[in-house]
Amino acid sequence: MSLHDIAARAMHVLDPEDAHRLTIRLLALGLGPRAGGDDPILATQVAGLKLPNCVGLAPGFDKNAEVFGPMLASGFGFVECGTVTPLAQAGNPRPRLFRLSEDQAVINRMGFNNEGLEPFAARLARRGPGVVGANIGANKDAEDRVADYVTGLTRLWGLASYFTINISSPNTPGLRALQTKAALEELLGRLAQARDALPAAGRVPMFLKVAPDLEDGEVEAIVETVVANGLEGIIVSNTTISRPQLASRFAGETGGLSGAPLTALSTQMLSAFAQASAGRVVLIGAGGIASGQDAYAKIRAGASAVQLYSAMVFGGPGLVTRIKRDLATCLRRDGFASVAAAVGAN
Ligand SMILES: Cc1cc2nc3c(=O)[nH]c(=O)nc-3n(C[C@H](O)[C@H](O)[C@H](O)COP(=O)(O)O)c2cc1C
Repeated sequence: MSLHDIAARAMHVLDPEDAHRLTIRLLALGLGPRAGGDDPILATQVAGLKLPNCVGLAPGFDKNAEVFGPMLASGFGFVECGTVTPLAQAGNPRPRLFRLSEDQAVINRMGFNNEGLEPFAARLARRGPGVVGANIGANKDAEDRVADYVTGLTRLWGLASYFTINISSPNTPGLRALQTKAALEELLGRLAQARDALPAAGRVPMFLKVAPDLEDGEVEAIVETVVANGLEGIIVSNTTISRPQLASRFAGETGGLSGAPLTALSTQMLSAFAQASAGRVVLIGAGGIASGQDAYAKIRAGASAVQLYSAMVFGGPGLVTRIKRDLATCLRRDGFASVAAAVGAN
């Protein structure tokens, strides 16, 4: 076990949100781990984005774009920052983040706490090489939520490697209603229009991030709306409001559940999106990835790349290196020469 992994375990004596703040500070000071070069079998392209490896850091970890550089250096193939909203907001009252150690899971009801677009944009403007996405959302009190997404897209145009439209957080009341057909048509229609009006030189992929708690008909409607409006992909999935059997005393906390209990549910949802989209958009898989095998299962179900967050809470910063090593082993064992060759193999 590395010193970094020992430090990550020691964090568990702290309140989870204090531990997270401290981790961000240490990373910003340059005290994070540094990974070596990537196994070439893990390199891939997603909607034109060139990734040195297909394992990304999911949003929520680096909400304010403070540590994307150190997280890329630690071995992630890409980092998604945010969710950022136009104006700074405090989020929900603490406690709002819970470690469910017995379940290898997390429940959060952060509520889009973030510093707003200006500091986020200033930090992205100074970034070096590497793929850094911006996950954009709406302020809780916004009168016109769609306008907030357009504001985020416009302000960060030319700064982010890609955009993710997050309508799947369970912690902003009413936000997930944007996944219903009429609301989604308006949102994606206005975003597509805004994107077409922005300077073509800054054009990058735009993805929609969805919840794992959708009915069959909703999956088809979302895919058709995404395709009709020219978005490049769908990220499946955010946290779940469902509560499978859990052992931890925090199981009854309100919020989104992530980590191990989300693995199967989010992979099933990914398969449903793969079937409905039939190759018309790219898919990125997230939800409960804690091993190379978990990442491989998402790829076989149709994901061109994957993202993780919760497992890092338990596995420490060395986890991404182990996941990449084991994923490369899975690919070679089954005779795939690249990640792309295994996408949707199921
Ligand atoms: C503490 C916490 C905060 C999160 N914040 C965001 C967020 O701001 N925006 C977002 O799109 N997803 C957010 N997520 C969801 C993750 O990006 C991811 O989709 C989800 O947790 C499933 O992946 P995992 O099981 O590997 O964590 C958050 C997750 C956690 C645990």
